[in-house]
Amino acid sequence: MKIPLVDLKKQYLSIKEEIVAAIKSVIEESAFIKGKYVENFEKNFAAYIGAKHCIGVGNGTDAIFITLKCLGVGAGDEVIVPVNTFIATAEAVTLAGATPIFVDCNEYYNIDPSEIEAAITPRTKAIIPVHLYGQPADMDEIMRIANSRGLMVIEDAAQAHGAEYADKKVGTFGTAATFSFYPAKNLGAYGDGGAVVTNDDKLAEKIRMFANHGRVGKYSHKFEGVNSRLDGLQAAILDAKLKHIDEWMEKRNSIARIYDDKLGGVVAIPKVLPGIRHAYHLYVIEALERDRLQASLKESGIESGIHYPIPLHLQGAYARLGHKRWAFPVAERVAERIISLPMFPELTAEEVSVVADVVKNFTTATK
Ligand SMILES: Cc1ncc(COP(=O)(O)O)c(C=O)c1O
Repeated sequence: MKIPLVDLKKQYLSIKEEIVAAIKSVIEESAFIKGKYVENFEKNFAAYIGAKHCIGVGNGTDAIFITLKCLGVGAGDEVIVPVNTFIATAEAVTLAGATPIFVDCNEYYNIDPSEIEAAITPRTKAIIPVHLYGQPADMDEIMRIANSRGLMVIEDAAQAHGAEYADKKVGTFGTAATFSFYPAKNLGAYGDGGAVVTNDDKLAEKIRMFANHGRVGKYSHKFEGVNSRLDGLQAAILDAKLKHIDEWMEKRNSIARIYDDKLGGVVAIPKVLPGIRHAYHLYVIEALERDRLQASLKESGIESGIHYPIPLHLQGAYARLGHKRWAFPVAERVAERIISLPMFPELTAEEVSVVADVVKNFTTATK
């Protein structure tokens, strides 16, 4: 039996007719850039998240970069980001001309609010919490700190479409939130895609213009921007998939419950913040002999991942910031132990059991 980390083809086959019909309509109407399909998806995604505006952009990295630019964050400014995230979160800060300031993670793998205050300086303009692996960051604490220090909050919700904190979807807490529709994400396009959501009318208008060459008319440009648009084909595909997102999230939660039941007490299973709804983009456990466990899974035909093996402050890309080893001990310790098990809605209970048994047998044998 081969069990992949993610199986995009299985999902496609389960909704093939809807996808093919969506693609056909866009092609027949030549609605490739802007137009009805993009507008419909933006309206539906904003309603799903519970935000006033959604602006489709080229990808999740651009979504963060464009939001920072349009909020006036740039040279000389600092932006607080978690050290345990995909590079895009910090990269977008640099792209905007500002400096990423790293903060360690907590037991939930998200930014540790108790470490944020110490990272704030007179140059700090914003905090970007990441709802990593689909688990909401501690938004009450983050918003309390941000409000008391006059900082903006941009939620990086690239991995957390539909996740909830205090009965509200993530993406509705900060000034704006950004999403990625990279194919393997919980809501994934068939190529690159991203979006910004916000309740701020002026910011939404500016982002829409910035992402489209600062346009006010076809050849009338109020300012210089970039070309970063969600295209019609991706929007139509995303709109078709949006109808299934809650059912898929339910399935991800059921899979997580099976893993929890089988692996609790055997390895460190994911800790879940009380009162949240996890989107389980990834199911991440911690194992002492992680690399050997990964090899053992591979031998059994099971694919796994490591998200992420090197915390950002130790990446060559951030050598210029001068951080030493153990500057962020929690992130560094977990980076050596974390392993992501197969997680996608179409995974069967039998497959989940097979994966859990391999983990269990390996762990028992190495004790
Ligand atoms: C946490 C996080 N932020 C940002 C991004 C960037 O998204 P994209 O790949 O669409 O640029 C990703 C995903 O790739 C991500 O996982």
